[in-house]
Amino acid sequence: ASPQLIDGFGRRIDYVRISVTDRCDFRCVYCMSENMEFLPRSEVLSLEELYDVAAAFARLGVRKIRLTGGEPLVRRDVLSLIERLGKLPVELVLTTNGSQLTRMADDLARARVQRLNISLDSLRPERFRELTRTGRLEQVLAGIEAARRAGFKRIKLNAVVLKGRNEDEVLDLVEFARDSGLDISFIEEMPLGQITEHGREEAYCSSDELRELINSRYPLKDSSESTGGPSHYFLMDDSPSRIGFISPHSHNFCGDCNRVRVTVEGRLLLCLGNEHSVDLREVMRQYPGDAGRLEQALIDAMAIKPEKHEFRLDDEPKILRFMNMTGG
Ligand code: GTP
Ligand code: 5AD
Ligand code: SF4
Repeated sequence: ASPQLIDGFGRRIDYVRISVTDRCDFRCVYCMSENMEFLPRSEVLSLEELYDVAAAFARLGVRKIRLTGGEPLVRRDVLSLIERLGKLPVELVLTTNGSQLTRMADDLARARVQRLNISLDSLRPERFRELTRTGRLEQVLAGIEAARRAGFKRIKLNAVVLKGRNEDEVLDLVEFARDSGLDISFIEEMPLGQITEHGREEAYCSSDELRELINSRYPLKDSSESTGGPSHYFLMDDSPSRIGFISPHSHNFCGDCNRVRVTVEGRLLLCLGNEHSVDLREVMRQYPGDAGRLEQALIDAMAIKPEKHEFRLDDEPKILRFMNMTGG
């Protein structure tokens, strides 16, 4: 059997989220500030280094690798990395804002990306623009359509729901998912980075509220199905679409945590809501090609994985790093 990564609380780590760039063509209000500064090239892991990290995790028994960003598909030559990752013995999945999918969906499917998660917070063009600051709804809808045709095993939409901004669209989004034959997760906003456009407490919308609302239109049945992420899924009687809720505030899911993240600077982050981390870039740049040392760094890091996040709505964000640095 392959070696395993187990943390100090006995949790087996078999899922890694790798951020391949901090850059993005959108500036979603809950993710970035308006004038983000991005990292200089020298700070960022090369495609080769990203591959080496992923391969080391795979050798240590990781079964699922999710590429995130920023927007992963805006990194130059990212497809060459994805093609190599597609040959590792893991489930390869990707989270995207959808802006590049008309161009890339077929190539991604061919490179053996199995599932896609695509952000979609609104179906109204003007509001979509306000929430993403730079995005075009039409382009993303065309991207979703291209992805549907490309034959992925599963596509999930992600909507971060904010009171007063898009909470009135929840049923429309459910209908869109049903009509398109896709899954959808509704996400409680997490307090990462200092944002200015809305107060996080005012914008908070609990998953329970949304579930009741959806349930009144489409009766929901609790499902024990999992994709290995924090989403809790429900099923409808008359549609194959799954409705998920990601509820960092109202239903803490840290007890079952099975994942760690790698930032684009090569920081192995042991929890989204804490700063405990190990500098993998330093290990790789100090000992180039030394796979044993890299693996040992991953194994040793498990000891400092914290028990849980302590996100709170009612004070300044404890975590100043923005979501795009972290890969969600
Ligand atoms: P699958 O289950 O593989 O479909 O992935 P996912 O839903 O976990 O991943 P996705 O990239 O679509 O992320 C959806 C939301 O879940 C984002 O807002 C992430 O920040 C959040 N998320 C994923 N993992 C964690 C976690 O460990 N802790 C917290 N607090 N949020 C997480
Ligand atoms: N809280 C919750 N979800 C967020 N995302 C980005 N920023 C936040 C935040 N502050 C979501 C994106 C994307 C996923 C990777 O994370 O909408 O769907
Ligand atoms: Fe870009 Fe995704 Fe952040 Fe939006 S949530 S700004 S699409 S990285």
